[in-house]
Amino acid sequence: MTETCFLEGRGELREWRDAARRFLLAGIEPQHIDWRLRSEAQGLFDDDPSDTRDLAVTNPDRQIHVPPAFLKLADAVVCHSDPGRFALLYRLLYRLLQDRHLLDVKSDVDVVSAYKMQKSIGRDYHKMTAFVRFKELPLAPGVAGRRRFFAWFEPDHFIVARVAPFFQRRFTDMDWIIATPKGSASWDGDSLRTTTGPATKPDVKDDTEELWRTYYASIFNPARLKVKMMMTEMPKKYWKNLPEADLIPGLIAGAEASVIDMARRQASEPLPFHHRLQEAAARVPAMPAPTAGTIDALREEARHCSRCDLHCRATQTVFGEGPADARVMIVGEQPGDHEDLAGHPFVGPAGRVFDNALSLAGIERHRLYVTNAVKHFKYEPRGKRRIHQRPNMGEVQQCRWWLTQEIDLVKPRLIVAMGATALFSLIDRKDRLDDVRGRPIRMDAERTLFVTVHPSYLLRIPDEGRKAQELGRFHDDMAHVARLAS
Ligand code: URA
Repeated sequence: MTETCFLEGRGELREWRDAARRFLLAGIEPQHIDWRLRSEAQGLFDDDPSDTRDLAVTNPDRQIHVPPAFLKLADAVVCHSDPGRFALLYRLLYRLLQDRHLLDVKSDVDVVSAYKMQKSIGRDYHKMTAFVRFKELPLAPGVAGRRRFFAWFEPDHFIVARVAPFFQRRFTDMDWIIATPKGSASWDGDSLRTTTGPATKPDVKDDTEELWRTYYASIFNPARLKVKMMMTEMPKKYWKNLPEADLIPGLIAGAEASVIDMARRQASEPLPFHHRLQEAAARVPAMPAPTAGTIDALREEARHCSRCDLHCRATQTVFGEGPADARVMIVGEQPGDHEDLAGHPFVGPAGRVFDNALSLAGIERHRLYVTNAVKHFKYEPRGKRRIHQRPNMGEVQQCRWWLTQEIDLVKPRLIVAMGATALFSLIDRKDRLDDVRGRPIRMDAERTLFVTVHPSYLLRIPDEGRKAQELGRFHDDMAHVARLAS
């Protein structure tokens, strides 16, 4: 005789576990259970034909002990959308009670299927953390309160309750709701709620969409484009809910032309005035004692800096820029190829990531004083290209001469170190960036330090999902900076 068991099947381990325990105590073998989803049974049976509570308990003393690895596996597998998952789990459970080491048999068909399902739950989780895009909901006129956001996402599996704590940690200081056809989650600053019912996609638009599009277009690097890898990382099925997705075909199509154009425009050689600058620098015999009383005078002095050898190959000094009394100073590592030619900090690809993070955080760049730990571009010529090289400790120490004076003259209340070089330059210690990242640190009575990653680090992350996550963290840091600066 076959027992039928109806479950909601929405990723709740307890639901399956309770039923499975009753079947085990009643001594029912896997082939005699028909596991069904209640949603599929609607209309077929008005009355639930089975209730596992009515099962005769034939073996009440049976001890059910399973290895912790099975519980972990089952916790993921019940979230899978395959209707066969409950039967598979029961088979495994039944067999595990006879062979405790079953999960180590990597060629076993049931074991393989379960681990495959677990893997696809992990993938779905990862995609949801990377591809959820929040849209801001307007507050009622005249109503003050926390900002409210909404996101629509279509996961493959019943993972909403599993992923919700991730979003709670990441977006603690805003109210949000994530709706999906497989349940929803919401956070109001106090409690995290999840539901399992399917939601329908509403039509919500806001300015953030345009920002995401601008952002994506600016970080898209045609030279690094690998279409196949990109499609694996960002499968097409997610595109319909990503505001930036409709840009992708055009960007891919234009990539080849862009690469050729980039190669043509590649900052391959210093500008023609490079030699004149070098000759002028060579004529300065030694560094004068600091005399500059203003930031403009200091900038002028720094044009002739020869404190270390980096000036010999760089086109020019790239000094800090911004209001002479800015409340916030941003410190990067050193000018890159574009900055070296333009003479301004953060105007290349890293600058675009930086600018986008600022606009998402509502910070106006023209209010910041933006500078670098090292003021000359350090590179290694490779063919026609100039490849960025990290400045060494000696170079950073020499250049601290300038940074210290910039800080003394501008007197910022908040200094933001982007990356390990900036951090070292500011505190003269090699602290691990992760240990100090993301929280205000008192430097002295007047100044606070805040540490985050360097935008170039984000550009170098090859995995699209991880890159999106790290960008999210960087945006959070900038939102934190905005709050500290206000
Ligand atoms: N990276 C930096 O640290 N500074 C710049 O100005 C540009 C790239």
